[in-house]
Formats: sequence, structure tokens, C-alpha cells
Amino acid sequence: MIGDTSNFKSIDVVPCGPALGARVTSVALSERLSDDCLQEILSAFYQYKVLFFEHQAIDDEQFVRFAEQLGSVQPDHYFCPIDTSHRVVEVRKEPKNEKNIGGRWHTDRAFEVNPPAATLLHAKTLPSLGGDTMFADMSSAFKRHSRGLQKVLCGLNAVHSNMDLANAREQLASEFNGRLMTDFEILRHEQPLVIQHPITGEPTLFANVISTEQISGWTDEESKCLLEYLYQHAVMPESTIRYQWQPNTVALWDNLATWHYALNDYPLETRVMHRITLAGTKLVRYQL
Ligand code: SIN
Repeated sequence: MIGDTSNFKSIDVVPCGPALGARVTSVALSERLSDDCLQEILSAFYQYKVLFFEHQAIDDEQFVRFAEQLGSVQPDHYFCPIDTSHRVVEVRKEPKNEKNIGGRWHTDRAFEVNPPAATLLHAKTLPSLGGDTMFADMSSAFKRHSRGLQKVLCGLNAVHSNMDLANAREQLASEFNGRLMTDFEILRHEQPLVIQHPITGEPTLFANVISTEQISGWTDEESKCLLEYLYQHAVMPESTIRYQWQPNTVALWDNLATWHYALNDYPLETRVMHRITLAGTKLVRYQL
């Protein structure tokens, strides 16, 4: 049950709302975490899908060390790196930028063969107002459909690609002035439309507006109709949360079980986040 925090002994967990998300307090990410603490963080992570650790004035090395205790840190070649190993990248919007990064509902890098398992963001510079991030629960999005539609969805595959990014290459290059890497190769990959979460085993809808091109074997029109319906249904306010960042908050989200949406409502201000990605595994179809 989402609201039940009685199983946590080493950390304090405060749910952000009935849908998903929790604040984890009484943890200092600057220190090496005990095994008990780490196990409870992982257990809270799979229960709440998005965790927020507030007041964490850590440097990038400490940020990487925390991430390495949770999983395998994966280099990110889409953003300009902070370190030479591309482990920490910067998500930056400056006053001269109109667009932001991640300003639509999406899963990070869903077009990869093994999409990232999790993403971490550390809030470095925030606008005076705005710049919140929203999260939606993709397992609840699936479970709220009728058994009849669930059965159909479980039998489908969808093709994902990074064409959306590729088509915007020139615009991204000029808008973000070299802060985004634009010389990536085109990736296209088919995935089950409903995956079994690798840890929790929960059914999870795996499609999103940025990377999903097509339901395999369906016409463009059929595919567009179904995807638009799924997208609209997935973001019912009841299955989302909106997080208002504090300076030095670290967020950790389950990239397979959620979508996120970075709000672009702070013109002429700066927002800077440092980001780390944790490697994922091959996705498996959910069998109903
Ligand atoms: C992203 O889409 O990864 C960026 C999220 C954010 O900046 O809040």
C-alpha cells in the first residue's frame, strides 16, 4: 500500500500524495550509506517510484558515489558532460533559451535496446518560481484500463526511435549552443507495449510521445488513435504528482515505471540540474 511506511526503520519516508512519490528524510547522501539504509532506499524506490532527498549539498563525486550504490552508472552521450567519463551531465536552461529539456511527458531514452532503469537529478540552480517536474505512474495507467483492453495491449509491440531528437538537431544545436550532443546515430528498436517491471513484476505501459513511432503492424492512423488515447488516459491528475524543487534536492525516479515532464514556465531565468543515469536491462513482455 502506497501510504504504509511502517516497514522503514533506517529512513523516514513521507509520501507526496496517494499516487506516487515520497520524500526520504534523515539520510545524508554525502556519507556512505549502511546496507540497511540502502536496502530501505531501494525498497522505498520500488514502492513509491520517485524519491526526493532534500537539503543534500553534495558535490558531483558524492552524487556519483550515491548513484553507484544503487546501480550501474551509465554514460550519457546526449548532454554535455560535467566530467570526462560522461557520468554526470548538465540539464541547463538559460534566460536566452526559449525551449527546455524534457518539456513533454516521456521516459528517458526509451529508444535504446536496454532503456535506463533510473534517472537521478540534483537541483543546482533554480528559478525564483516555476521549473517544477511532474511524474506519472505508468503501472497505474495500465491497471486503470478494462481487462479487455489490457489483454489487447499485452499482445502488442511498439517501435521506438530517437528520430524526434534527430529531427530537432539543428534547432537544438542553435538553441542550446553546443550544450547538447547532436552527432548521435539513429536508433530504432521494437519493445513490448506492456512490460513486466524487472524488479516489482508489475505491468507497466511502455510508450511515450517523444520516442514511440508506431504500434507494430498497425496503420499510422490506427496507431495514432490508440497511442493518443493511451497518452491522454495515462496522465489523469489522480496518477500524477508535481514536485516543486528545493535547492540541493536529489530526485531518483524509476525510468521504466514512470513518465516525467519538466515544466517550462520560468522565462528569462536559469535552471541547472546535474543528471546521472542508471543502466537498465532487456525489457520483457507482461503476460496477462
Ligand atoms: C529530463 O527530462 O530528464 C529533465 C527533467 C527536469 O529537468 O526536471
